[in-house]
Amino acid sequence: MSSGSVVRAVVRGVGHYLPTRVVPNTEFEEKVDTTDEWIRTRTGIERRHFAAEGETTSSMATHAARAALDDAGVAIGEIDAIIVATSTPDLTFPSAASMVQAQLGMTRGFAFDVQAVCAGFIYALVNANALILSGQAGRVLVIGAETFSRILDWSDRSTCVLFGDGAGAVVLEKAEGDGSVADRGILSSELHSDGTYGDLLYVDGGVSTTGTAGVLKMQGNAVFRHAVEKLADTAHTALAKVGLSGDDVDWIVPHQANLRIISATAQRMGVPMDRVVVTVQEHGNTSAASIPLALSVGKSRGQIKPGQLLVMEAIGGGLVWGSVVLRW
Ligand code: UT7
Repeated sequence: MSSGSVVRAVVRGVGHYLPTRVVPNTEFEEKVDTTDEWIRTRTGIERRHFAAEGETTSSMATHAARAALDDAGVAIGEIDAIIVATSTPDLTFPSAASMVQAQLGMTRGFAFDVQAVCAGFIYALVNANALILSGQAGRVLVIGAETFSRILDWSDRSTCVLFGDGAGAVVLEKAEGDGSVADRGILSSELHSDGTYGDLLYVDGGVSTTGTAGVLKMQGNAVFRHAVEKLADTAHTALAKVGLSGDDVDWIVPHQANLRIISATAQRMGVPMDRVVVTVQEHGNTSAASIPLALSVGKSRGQIKPGQLLVMEAIGGGLVWGSVVLRW
């Protein structure tokens, strides 16, 4: 294809926000029958951040968005759309994205939430890419933000030790490419869901059922098995769509749920762990926030550099899963 013939959605900036309260594994030893040793060896998690009273998904998302706008050198007036991936919005409605829009002082453009649990950021990126490729928007703030600490069952040791709060954001903007895999931006993606697995990971409350927010329930073992199988498959498929393989990948930026899942996926893809961005030890599982957090932390650590090939992959309640191949 000739030069300048293809529209690409390129990451122009990235940022994140973590609440100040850091909770080490040892704090859980006082609450439930668990140990720091069990949590570290079974999950890789060492600590996580929990939102302060009054801190919400939209407030954390707004902090992350500001950091991404700063990094991009883009003013809020230059943004056409805001997408927030979250399963823990401030209110049933308006959307967290509308709240972020208000907090950023943006009165033009449009804003909406995407709910695909831990795969939410992948789904949001794919939507933002489609908006850019269709000409609906030129520049989109794509945010993953969660306050899972508000939907945890503090008496369930098999789930309450796993999750954390936080937010990450990217500014995605229209650019021109030549249609080759050397282009910067989103090169390929793949989405899946299978609602028949809904009982493996869900929250037991909601607007039209209990009228409450509910708490998280998970059959960890079963989700683990699906994750190991499905994450490598979706990443392989997305790479193969554009003629690439694990060998071409500079960084896997995985959903950060469990270090054992992350390493098993990397192994199945034939990618060594020194080419995987790992933040799970610091953040725990932050659901839709985990990949943009890992992108932002990976960049600030000096791991992710311009021109490198990234594959992001995630799975979450639904089950929903998917991947995005992106040249940074
Ligand atoms: O983000 C969405 C996707 N979610 C995930 O990817 C999570 C997937 N699942 C996992 O990461 C893992 O399955 C867990 C970390 C949740 C659990 O690890 P596991 O190696 O699968 O442990 P298990 O569920 O098989 O439990 C092993 C044992 C059980 O005891 P018994 O039955 O062998 O006596 C559990 O009761 O570990 C026990 N256990 C704990 N022990 C100490 C479960 N949670 C804890 C705990 N502390 N916190």
